[in-house]
Amino acid sequence: MLQGKNIVLGVTGGIAVYKSVEIVSRLRKAGAQVKVIMTEAAAKFVTPLTFREISQNPVSVSMWTEVANWNVEHIALAGWADLFLIAPATANFIGKVANGIADDMLTTTVMATRAKVIIAPAMNTNMFENPIVQENIKKLIRLGYVIIPPATGKLACGTEGSGRLPEPIDIVTVLTSLQRRQLQSLRGKKVVVTAGGTQEPIDPVRYVGNNSSGKMGYAVAKIAKSRGAEVVLVSGPTYLPDPPGVKVIRVKTALQMRDAVLNEYSDADIVVKAAAVADYRPQQTAEQKIKKSDSNLTIVLEKNPDILLELGQKKTKQFLVGFAAETQELLANAKEKLLKKNLDMIIANDVTIAGAGFNADTNIIKMILTDGTVIELPQLSKEEVAEEIFNRIESLLPVRS
Ligand code: PMT
Repeated sequence: MLQGKNIVLGVTGGIAVYKSVEIVSRLRKAGAQVKVIMTEAAAKFVTPLTFREISQNPVSVSMWTEVANWNVEHIALAGWADLFLIAPATANFIGKVANGIADDMLTTTVMATRAKVIIAPAMNTNMFENPIVQENIKKLIRLGYVIIPPATGKLACGTEGSGRLPEPIDIVTVLTSLQRRQLQSLRGKKVVVTAGGTQEPIDPVRYVGNNSSGKMGYAVAKIAKSRGAEVVLVSGPTYLPDPPGVKVIRVKTALQMRDAVLNEYSDADIVVKAAAVADYRPQQTAEQKIKKSDSNLTIVLEKNPDILLELGQKKTKQFLVGFAAETQELLANAKEKLLKKNLDMIIANDVTIAGAGFNADTNIIKMILTDGTVIELPQLSKEEVAEEIFNRIESLLPVRS
């Protein structure tokens, strides 16, 4: 989607500047041409040389340096841009643009462009929550600027909260979605996603679990959000931060996951079950830690409810997508689950292959539809897999309703 696009990346002075280098690299890999404008402050964190090398284009910092060609540089760059991204954007930059101040290379170019401007703020939580900054952001949104909300987590200043620059892959995903004009393609739809593995307690310190990291389900939730959906993510225990703008319900056991999903089900339009739910749980959970003894220990496991099966039985308008994690007979087993659970699509992944399934950053999937169509995809990042899943869902939604 970004192939052949001209993107100007504005970089302002914050510790997150190092992530902008990866943004340039990802944009170029996606086929875009990138030109970088840095503020003087940004150039104190990372040198223009780094951006020049990675973008393979000259980098602009000052308005007053000698230019090689006689054209007004900020006007030329403003006209060249198909998309204009500012990441990270400081409170200072946001304040200037919101109030019409153009006193350096970046702000004058932003002021002169007719391209879509996308701003990714990154700063300390208190600064971000400051009413002046919030007012400026609201004003920019009203004026048609796109704001990528900051992520939540540990900040460079040592505090925790909102203000982190989202990961480069997430920022590039927003640009891709914008470019496809799909940013709002799921607007008005409620998408429920499950992610991670469940943990079934044996005693207060042990559990029956599996290797799911949650990465696949979190990627699905992020992409649904980037397309404008209202997203509810029911997550087993993971180390992943909440995706921005997504309602996250954290659970531990299959029974808790079942309750949470059923609660959100009746008005859902799309449900994607990427979670690895434990099929069995210990029949008894010991109140105290089980002591080691000389004899073997037998734990009786009883069956957990099959949440997806139940969703399939209760289905009214929902488009239901399951995952099948298989180690053999991938297609046959996945097709059986598609039918048995009354799904609209199943995503089959052979979890024995390197680069697929549990814990990997990538996945290798086959999408199977109810008419028997099988769409095979190459190894893709989990975010790209999620994009493909929603592309397919969106093409099928009108046919179903
Ligand atoms: O989390 P990651 O580390 O990124 O790994 C991703 C993944 C491998 C977990 C994911 O790609 C995946 O395959 N998820 C489904 C795992 C699984 O439980 O597959 P299954 O074939 O056992 O179950 C089939 C479907 O039924 C799944 O959608 C599952 O959520 C659902 N199910 C299963 C059992 C159960 N009791 N209730 C369910 O709802």
